[in-house]
Amino acid sequence: MKAAVIDRFGGPEEIYYTDIEKPVPGPDEVLVRNVYIGVGKPDYIMRSGICPFLEAKPPKLVVGNECAGIVEAVGSDVKGIEPGMQVCVNSGLGYGAYAEYIAVPQKFVTVFPDEFPLKYAPGFLNYMVAYALLNEIGRGTDGKSIYIYGAAGGVGTAVIQTALLQGIEVIASASSQEKCDYIKSLGAQCVFNHKEQDAKEVIMDYTRGRGVDLIFDQLVGRRFASQFEYLADFGMIVIYNWLDGSPELDQLDTIIKQSSHASAVRSFSFHIYDDKPERLAKIRKICMDRIISGEIKPHFYMDLPLSEARKAHELMDGLQIMGKLILHVEE
Ligand SMILES: NC(=O)c1ccc[n+]([C@@H]2O[C@H](COP(=O)([O-])OP(=O)(O)OC[C@H]3O[C@@H](n4cnc5c(N)ncnc54)[C@H](OP(=O)(O)O)[C@@H]3O)[C@@H](O)[C@H]2O)c1
Repeated sequence: MKAAVIDRFGGPEEIYYTDIEKPVPGPDEVLVRNVYIGVGKPDYIMRSGICPFLEAKPPKLVVGNECAGIVEAVGSDVKGIEPGMQVCVNSGLGYGAYAEYIAVPQKFVTVFPDEFPLKYAPGFLNYMVAYALLNEIGRGTDGKSIYIYGAAGGVGTAVIQTALLQGIEVIASASSQEKCDYIKSLGAQCVFNHKEQDAKEVIMDYTRGRGVDLIFDQLVGRRFASQFEYLADFGMIVIYNWLDGSPELDQLDTIIKQSSHASAVRSFSFHIYDDKPERLAKIRKICMDRIISGEIKPHFYMDLPLSEARKAHELMDGLQIMGKLILHVEE
């Protein structure tokens, strides 16, 4: 079968398209014939060799952790999944998705009803993350407004669409005019370029000095505490990555001094749901229904053939993606 693989960790140039052996499913595994493949940050982490839990190693290591397709065969111990079903694989293994076929343990496979457009399955997780951020993780605030940084990406797009659907006001920022135009086209009410404008000035001006209820922070780093300056009373900063590293230790002091504003900080990973299948199923159902009904329409930046996986990673590393980038398996 065809696959996009790496022989060593590194940049996009390490990815090449080649023939490898088609996998055979083990007793608890599902064999999926892939149709669409999602490209995302975890693939960058895997490809560059900084993934802490990757069990497989190059050479001929298949890139990718998210793909969608049709079940071709199941192992003898698999229950509830049958050949012909449409499914999405979010391989907790971190690899194996950029290929015509993937065989993974059943626990990594989600069945999608026939009426769900398969093309929307990669990237669907972003909508579950967005739902969780807005409805479960951000609880305890007034929840009327949010600010999301780097909002043109996959998660940002999903957060904006979900928030607007739920009647939450959206302040969003990005690093270029093109990305800001894209965010505006999604309907965000206040949009600014975070390279050119000061977040505090824009947000305090837009909210008439009240501040914003919820801040979704994927940077943290040294500027972390400055965000309290535009957080509303009872507001919360939700950390969902720390691309700029940890805050300085003395920033705890700033947090304590926020007590007269009852400010909160919460750190979130979607892995909170790993041992909460019922709660996860509820979120999944709500998000599936919203997409099936057309209330939410996922946005694609590009749909490239699998043979162009390297180009997809060049675009990702260049921070050019707006919405979701997917690959499709050629017939
Ligand atoms: N906690 C969780 O469970 C969870 C789940 C899924 C994703 N995430 C995290 O959510 C974030 C967004 O995911 P995504 O798939 O939407 O990512 P993405 O599309 O690659 O990035 C989103 C935006 O973040 C900014 N950005 C990206 N890399 C950056 C860097 N190294 N330094 C500074 N800014 C950077 C860029 O915006 P500008 O160009 O506009 O600055 C980019 O458009 C990622 O950090 C991801 O790891 C967390």
